Amino acid sequence: MDDRRLTIKEIFTEPERYWDEQVTVAGWLRNIRSQKQRVFADLNDGSCFDNLQITCAADGDTADIYRGLSSLGVGSAVYATGTVTQRPDGLPELDLTALAVEGESPPSYPLQPKRHTVEFLRTIAHLRPRTNLFSAVFRIRSEAAFALHKFFHERNFVYVHTPIITGSDSEGAGEMFNVTTLDISNPPRTEDGAVDYRQDFFHRHVNLTVSGQLNAECYAQAFAKIYTFGPTFRAENSNTPRHAAEFWMIEPEIAFADLDDDMELAEAMLRYVIKHVLEYCSSEIAFLNRFVSPGLIKKLELVANSEFDVITYTDAIAELQKAETEFKYPVFWGADLQTEHERYLSEHLVGGPVFVRDYPREIKAFYMRLNEKDDFRTVAAMDCLVPGIGEIIGGSQREEREELLLERIKEFNLNLDEYWWYLELRRYGTTKHAGYGLGFERLIMYLTGVNNIRDVIPFPRTTGTAEF
Ligand code: 4AD
Ligand code: MG
Repeated sequence: MDDRRLTIKEIFTEPERYWDEQVTVAGWLRNIRSQKQRVFADLNDGSCFDNLQITCAADGDTADIYRGLSSLGVGSAVYATGTVTQRPDGLPELDLTALAVEGESPPSYPLQPKRHTVEFLRTIAHLRPRTNLFSAVFRIRSEAAFALHKFFHERNFVYVHTPIITGSDSEGAGEMFNVTTLDISNPPRTEDGAVDYRQDFFHRHVNLTVSGQLNAECYAQAFAKIYTFGPTFRAENSNTPRHAAEFWMIEPEIAFADLDDDMELAEAMLRYVIKHVLEYCSSEIAFLNRFVSPGLIKKLELVANSEFDVITYTDAIAELQKAETEFKYPVFWGADLQTEHERYLSEHLVGGPVFVRDYPREIKAFYMRLNEKDDFRTVAAMDCLVPGIGEIIGGSQREEREELLLERIKEFNLNLDEYWWYLELRRYGTTKHAGYGLGFERLIMYLTGVNNIRDVIPFPRTTGTAEF
């Protein structure tokens, strides 16, 4: 049955090539409409977002196929063979000459053709990729990942795989998942009663990485322009629509570069990905624009073609203090920006993406470069905030001066022993350098208009949930 097997994408891309040809496609039935004279069904084979309509008459040569297809359940997997014909609306459809059932799907199949809530679909994460919504989201996710690699590749960045298991806390925030093979109900103890990690697998204490940055910096000091793109893990006990315990991050790191170079790169990257997705995922974006986030296309086109605003943290605080909006969290110089503040800045003050730069040293990570221009009260940090989400990128120029970095590690009470190699980068041919992390799921939320992080990662891991 496989002799003229095509994908639906091939048929939709060049239908004129296949008019009146006999072909076979293999996929899953999304919808079956059996009428007296004919049966129609929508077949999706995963090759593209769109379904191919398959059909046959109730009488004549196709009577058996009519009966077979009419009796199948939604969700069944089939091989459909037939002639490619043109519908009145110009689209191709398949006039069946044969139908072979690969795997039946009984009426208990939970994805009957009707609207389902995203909350319900999360309970069937193993099946939800078969819905339109998740088909659109996960195709876009795949294209966006590819676009990011393409962006960095075109700019001659080296792609570095940083480790998942690590001994250091690169954000210094202590939100780490421990990794151990010790018997946690009865771990070996040191003389003073602490768990003796010297007897653990790595002969030391390790955790899952919260960011590849520190390792990425090492490679930037050799290849000048690098990026890493991998899973990161945070044991943040926050149950919000934009935090996941396991998420993917893209982290470029550039040598001989300062914070302005860093923001320039981030902006170019975001605009590049948006343009790519608008071009290569037009069906998916059109669907989302229609059913999930009205105005999505306009928003993305606008961002792809306009420059991002930049504001200092100090000015941002002044703007927030002037705002008419009642904020839940207090606004004062030195306060960390909360999502409500971030959203106000991007949604109301700017009406698009905005970089906030030069944050107080106390609220940002130890490795960020102290700003002389602000008497060392601020660091050369930047966050990119977007409407609907808030922060999607966090980055900074790094402290390349060894003595100042040492001071910061002490200021944050971090364990100096874990950073000896990181400090050595500052001793041997140190350069001014910068980088950032783009939360990949936050990007996908932005690109799709989907407002919960649980619906843009295939199998979300959040506090209290790790099913599937
Ligand atoms: O701002 P963050 O913590 O920065 C870093 O990790 C730096 N080491 C990056 C760098 O400079 N190389 O995280 C970067 C981004 C955030 O802006 C956000 O988009 C995302 O990662 N992020 C999360 N996404 C989903 N769930 C979480 N719990 C996230 N925490 C951060
Ligand atoms: Mg951040």
